[in-house]
Amino acid sequence: MSRNLVKISGVNSYVPKGILTNHDLEKMVDTNDEWIVSRTGIKQRHILKEEGKATSDMATEAVKGLLTKTNTSPDEIDLVICATITPDMKFPDTANTLCDKVGINNAFGFDINAACSGFLYALTTGAKFVESGSHKKVIVVGIDMMSSIIDYTDRTTCIIFGDGGGAVLLEANDEPYGILDSYFKGDGSGRKHLHLKAGGSAMPTSEQTVKDNLHYVYQEGKHVFKRAVSGMVDTIKVVLERNNLSNDDIDWLVPHQANMRIINSVAGMLDFPEEKVIINIQNYGNTTAGTLPLCLADFEHQFKKGDKILLTAFGGGFTWGTTLLTWAY
Ligand code: UT7
Repeated sequence: MSRNLVKISGVNSYVPKGILTNHDLEKMVDTNDEWIVSRTGIKQRHILKEEGKATSDMATEAVKGLLTKTNTSPDEIDLVICATITPDMKFPDTANTLCDKVGINNAFGFDINAACSGFLYALTTGAKFVESGSHKKVIVVGIDMMSSIIDYTDRTTCIIFGDGGGAVLLEANDEPYGILDSYFKGDGSGRKHLHLKAGGSAMPTSEQTVKDNLHYVYQEGKHVFKRAVSGMVDTIKVVLERNNLSNDDIDWLVPHQANMRIINSVAGMLDFPEEKVIINIQNYGNTTAGTLPLCLADFEHQFKKGDKILLTAFGGGFTWGTTLLTWAY
């Protein structure tokens, strides 16, 4: 089989220096380390605290490091796609802001808003531009500053989320390694269970929306939990089946890091052994679009050329899906 695949030729991540531990949270809301660890697996999250810094500043660090690592000049980049639900501003997009900050001058850019599935949607979108031959080098970023939309008096959400993310470089590949398949789903009726009420056209910002605390993440955790497990399991099964693969053929399962119990349920239902499942939620919490590139960056040193990797995610929208790729270096 010879098919020109689009490869990930490099990955780099960035998390801010500030750390918020479970013990810090114990002093802020009625919670405790034991509850958080046993219910979510999270021990700490990174929080961007520097005055005036935003999502694009974290993305800038991730992308600058990626260009250095891959020995790529900013002028070689044709397109930048940024998956985020915490853009610097409602408009313009964060992708173009980060191009300006990095010095990427020959590219166009746009954002993708698909919450925790954003990185996978952006990865596949970026790969299509390369596959078509119209663009040679594409950067895909998945990153969020969740601390900007979290209510730190709400113990059901503030213990989960963190800031950070990462970026990958996409290029054409002569060798048979790269992005093989993606299967994505959406269900807009899920929006009532996970959303941010105010600040959009449905409920513009007003004194009242601020007073009513409507500019923060609203989540019905139990419902989202169940849908996340079934959504990821179902799309993994479809991708395995239509590529004639079983879980034995997969070297790594890289799940969105929302909750350790969700990850364990997905892996358990599909009989994936523990050692194949990538987990770093304990260090970062849920960084929304950032979790998957953070996983790729943290485990890059363990991946071998040709390894088959499944990436899977579920998030607000609802959005969800699975991507299959072979590691190219
Ligand atoms: O990435 C985007 C998609 N998001 C997700 O995938 C998140 C999915 N959901 C979850 O991860 C979990 O549902 C949570 C971590 C949000 C909550 O865990 P849970 O096991 O579903 O807890 P629960 O909401 O059923 O709450 C159980 C109890 C409640 O008390 P009662 O009613 O049993 O007395 C809560 O009030 O735990 C209480 N509780 C807490 N206790 C201590 C809720 N949050 C806390 C807390 N500390 N931080």
